[in-house]
Amino acid sequence: MTLSTLALVALFVRDVFSQQSPGAADFLRFGCSQLVVERADPLVTPGLNPSPHTHQIVGGNSFNITMDPYTIDPPKQSTCTSCIYKEDFSNYWTASIYFQSPENGTFKKVPQMANGRQNRTLLEQDGGLTVYYMRPFSGSNKKTTAMKPGFRMFAGDPALRSKTGTYPGICHRCLSKADRLMGGNGAPCDSKDTAAFPSSPCPGGIRATIIFPSCWDGKNLDSPDHRSHVAYAPGSGALAGDKCPSTHPVRIPQVMYEIMFDTSGFADPKYYKNGKQPLVYSFGDATGYGAHGDYLFGWEGDALQRGMDALGNKCGSEDCTSALKIQSGNDAIACTKAQMAKEDVGSNNWLKELPGGATVTFE
Ligand SMILES: *[C@@H]1O[C@H](CO)[C@@H](O)[C@H](O)[C@H]1NC(C)=O
Ligand SMILES: *[C@@H]1O[C@H](CO)[C@@H](O)[C@H](O)[C@H]1NC(C)=O
Ligand SMILES: *[C@@H]1O[C@H](CO)[C@@H](O)[C@H](O)[C@H]1NC(C)=O
Repeated sequence: MTLSTLALVALFVRDVFSQQSPGAADFLRFGCSQLVVERADPLVTPGLNPSPHTHQIVGGNSFNITMDPYTIDPPKQSTCTSCIYKEDFSNYWTASIYFQSPENGTFKKVPQMANGRQNRTLLEQDGGLTVYYMRPFSGSNKKTTAMKPGFRMFAGDPALRSKTGTYPGICHRCLSKADRLMGGNGAPCDSKDTAAFPSSPCPGGIRATIIFPSCWDGKNLDSPDHRSHVAYAPGSGALAGDKCPSTHPVRIPQVMYEIMFDTSGFADPKYYKNGKQPLVYSFGDATGYGAHGDYLFGWEGDALQRGMDALGNKCGSEDCTSALKIQSGNDAIACTKAQMAKEDVGSNNWLKELPGGATVTFE
């Protein structure tokens, strides 16, 4: 590790895992409760109801099968959001994880759980995920430019089944019971985290991390692969500094998701014998390398820009009340949405196949 990487890691660890004084934050961090778990994907398969695999979705309740960037306006069309920052009607979603019984081959959805706050209490969220918007961790220019209405992007590659081609900022952390609340030590996706599913039992849960690109071409709200209008910053680290390539010159806030999966009920060592592990993503990936996330911008007015500009100045990452409006955890949790295609996604019952019928692949 170079000195600057070490400094960056130290900074991140201090910011994320210890109580910070207001003004120290380099990011907004907030919980979003589950809006719905269903087979819908307005980014990759717009119009398809149901879409091929289960997603867990949070954010504004205008979420729909089709979300045309030019006609859908989440802040106008939502009546609530499941996120704590109440001007945020964006949608954030990821694939679900299932446990496949090595005994009989049936599937059960791995429950999600709330994440820890910096003051060692649980974020007020029911399932869902934790969202970060980060400004540069290195470099002298802390300024970011908020995304525009209609902007969306995708991180990761669901087709991957080996480490080759994986992104440095998409990973899984295996938590011991003691690490459950604070997520263990270290920067996101550090050397203890793995692109693959953990190879040993995780009694404190699995924290999945998805870090999105920090550079935008400044023109396109989307692109055919939902990725090429954005780019990861130069360098090898997952967390970006202030630089962007000339093809993608606009330094947007870097979005990161943390998704907490409660694997405590599936942590029996008998499931982890002979190099096997029992978890599979909802799209059939039993390796974990295909982990990915979807992002659809939906902040009201200039709220995100206001929040980012207030960082480091009276604005704590989890309680940025000087710049943003916050709603109670109960109000966020109350914002839910019915499934558009009603089905049992495997939260209570064991399923004979993954919803949508994806084939489980190991390579
Ligand atoms: C989803 O789209 C359909 C068709 O345009 C519309 O009727 C419905 O009200 C939308 N649902 C939400 C929650 O916006
Ligand atoms: C399948 O196996 C799991 C444990 O691995 C068990 O809890 C479940 O009841 C079994 N289902 C059937 C139909 O046997
Ligand atoms: C922890 O932080 C949150 C958000 O800043 C605050 O609402 C809560 O009261 C704090 N809890 C404790 C025990 O300090």
